[in-house]
Amino acid sequence: MLDTGSSDLIASAHRALAVNRRHGLTVPHLRMFPAGYLWDTAVIVKGLAVFDPDRAAAEVLRLLGAQWRSGMLPNEVYFDTDRFRRWIHGAHPDTPTGLTTSGITQPPMIVRSALEVGRRLDPDARAAFYRAALPPLAALCRWVLERRIGDRGLAVVIHPHETGMDNRADLVGPMAARWLTATTRRQRASRAALLLTVRTGRRVLGDCRTVTVGHRSSHPEVLAAALQTHHLRRFHYDLAAIRAEGRAVLVEDVGYNAVFLDAVRCLQELAAELGPDAAREHLPPDLTAATDRLAAGLDQLWQPDVDVHGGGYASRDARTGQVLPGATVAGLFPLLVERRPERVRTMTGRLSDPGRYWTLVPPPSAPLDSPAFDPVRYWQGPAWPFPTDILETGLELAGHHELAGELRHRYLTRPHGPEHAEYQNPLTGAPLGARPFSPAAALTLRFADRLPDS
Ligand code: GLC
Repeated sequence: MLDTGSSDLIASAHRALAVNRRHGLTVPHLRMFPAGYLWDTAVIVKGLAVFDPDRAAAEVLRLLGAQWRSGMLPNEVYFDTDRFRRWIHGAHPDTPTGLTTSGITQPPMIVRSALEVGRRLDPDARAAFYRAALPPLAALCRWVLERRIGDRGLAVVIHPHETGMDNRADLVGPMAARWLTATTRRQRASRAALLLTVRTGRRVLGDCRTVTVGHRSSHPEVLAAALQTHHLRRFHYDLAAIRAEGRAVLVEDVGYNAVFLDAVRCLQELAAELGPDAAREHLPPDLTAATDRLAAGLDQLWQPDVDVHGGGYASRDARTGQVLPGATVAGLFPLLVERRPERVRTMTGRLSDPGRYWTLVPPPSAPLDSPAFDPVRYWQGPAWPFPTDILETGLELAGHHELAGELRHRYLTRPHGPEHAEYQNPLTGAPLGARPFSPAAALTLRFADRLPDS
């Protein structure tokens, strides 16, 4: 039960979603993130659907309008032709005319969100919405299956930002090793010059204008990410070409794959709502077999010695197959799809352990007992709305309704809730980063809607 300040919390969430609007979309934050972001939109529309399902449906379709001709859905979409961004991401013939987008993607929670938004619409509007959303969502899943599956049957992410968790603890080591090692004097001088450019750029134009760098990705982390983007651009973001060249960090990401497997199942559910003809026309062929292969691939990411107390899910280097060291909250995302009681118990046990993930505002992005844990540094400790959304959904799907309810309760009673921060110190609830942040506000409305007396 929400007791203190709940009307303030709800009213401020509505205000945030009213203010952060641009180009027909609710963006994460008007100044710091004035673009459409794939997994942000997935969380935002579920919150919008609580009070305005038509707006939520329109925003899903608006974002899907940024789909590349290949089926790829970019993680970042500017609804205009932004020269600077074009220069960063490169012009690609697959980009829809008149838009500027990145060339990389993000976990496809948008499929589940579309399904859930549709359920809030009246039957006629729902059918029309599903008919409009199914072809692009099916094209997205087909693109992943045809263009992004690696040697071991798992989707491969080509950039840390594709995990949604830019500088996650298990990704920064491989990125630094690949892009920041300098052995000669010349290389060291060039790295130093690039770092200076990054530092200055972020202070003058970027995220460090308003937020201290201690709360963001470090300058070397940003440089490594930028160097990989530059590299991917040269290979037109094509996995086969990038893999053949051999330099980029490629990851079988446990978070991306869990969300994707869930997305494929949601796609099948959504098509079923429209009847067998829609399914025949739009779903990728052999989707059931592909789903089985994916599930088998994900199963390989369960490592008996990856975490304390009996194993856990972890990501792997897509080239070598080696597990990426460093537990992170992404290792719990398979709660979306895992149904073996023992593994579910291990994951829920870990999530509800106060020494690991069960903090004042759960879940931290890295567990408290990991060497990388830092409660204020971007994806290396703070609690973010995206994992909270995924884990709450996963807990409900896995039948752990009580724990899901507890997670919602902790989120809704978080200190400084009405600020709707981009991320928070999981130990104190201190708000960090941009605010008001639309995904945080949307999650508030979705969780409040599930309170017993609402
Ligand atoms: C940052 C976050 C990412 C989010 C984006 C927009 O890059 O790491 O998860 O999608 O900002 O909010």
